[in-house]
Amino acid sequence: MAPYKIVMVRHGESEWNEKNLFCGWYDANLSEKGKQEAVSAGKALKDAGYQFDIAYTSVLTRAQETLKAILNEIGQSNLETVKTWRLNERHYGGLTGLNKAETAAKYGDEQVAIWRRSFDVPPPPMEPDHPYYDTIVKDARYANGPAPDEFPKFESLKLTIERTLPFWNDTIVPQIKAGKKILIAAHGNSLRGIVKHLDEMSDEQIMKLNLPTGIPFYYTLDENLKPIESLQFLGDPETVKKAMEAVAAQGKAK
Ligand code: 3PG
Repeated sequence: MAPYKIVMVRHGESEWNEKNLFCGWYDANLSEKGKQEAVSAGKALKDAGYQFDIAYTSVLTRAQETLKAILNEIGQSNLETVKTWRLNERHYGGLTGLNKAETAAKYGDEQVAIWRRSFDVPPPPMEPDHPYYDTIVKDARYANGPAPDEFPKFESLKLTIERTLPFWNDTIVPQIKAGKKILIAAHGNSLRGIVKHLDEMSDEQIMKLNLPTGIPFYYTLDENLKPIESLQFLGDPETVKKAMEAVAAQGKAK
């Protein structure tokens, strides 16, 4: 049945991306630009003739709305879709709600780059007195997990991967091996974790990867799920490069 192909897409720009705020598990909506990016992603997939057997997304609105727009464009609005917190964006802890450029001005570009892109250095924790603590921890969408004693208060990329991989290995991999055509609509860092895993990237290599909003990419995988083609974007290379650079620049002081 190999090679297998799997398509992934980071959600379109969120309202908090637009304001350059650390978002994480805060449930931000798509911005108007993000809604257009989602439709464009759907059009690109439609033009390339993609159809899917199943989709996976997070429990956060920005990813779900991106997926909904894509499925609408390709005529698969009723596609079976699985939603899981394990595909959520990394939890940005105490940084949630702070402006990224202002945080860089306060702590330095290097420290913010480490918080955003390092493998195992977590952001500071979200304490109970944080303005968004109750909004997130008490949200009914987490009734089925994570368990209260496992509910993250911050996540490094390492911790994010540790909660994404069980879903990847136990749920998605069997579907890939069954030859199902799969679409994952998720987040910059939960997808970075999957990419790091698939490409066996080093901690140094993953530091350099910034995923653009709303531009689908695919992997082709062999029978052992080793990449034959990695991170193939459905967009012109220059557009993708500039979008990645723009994401990186979000974390620099103005
Ligand atoms: C967020 O959670 O702030 C963004 O969606 C991802 O942020 P990052 O690109 O700063 O990791």
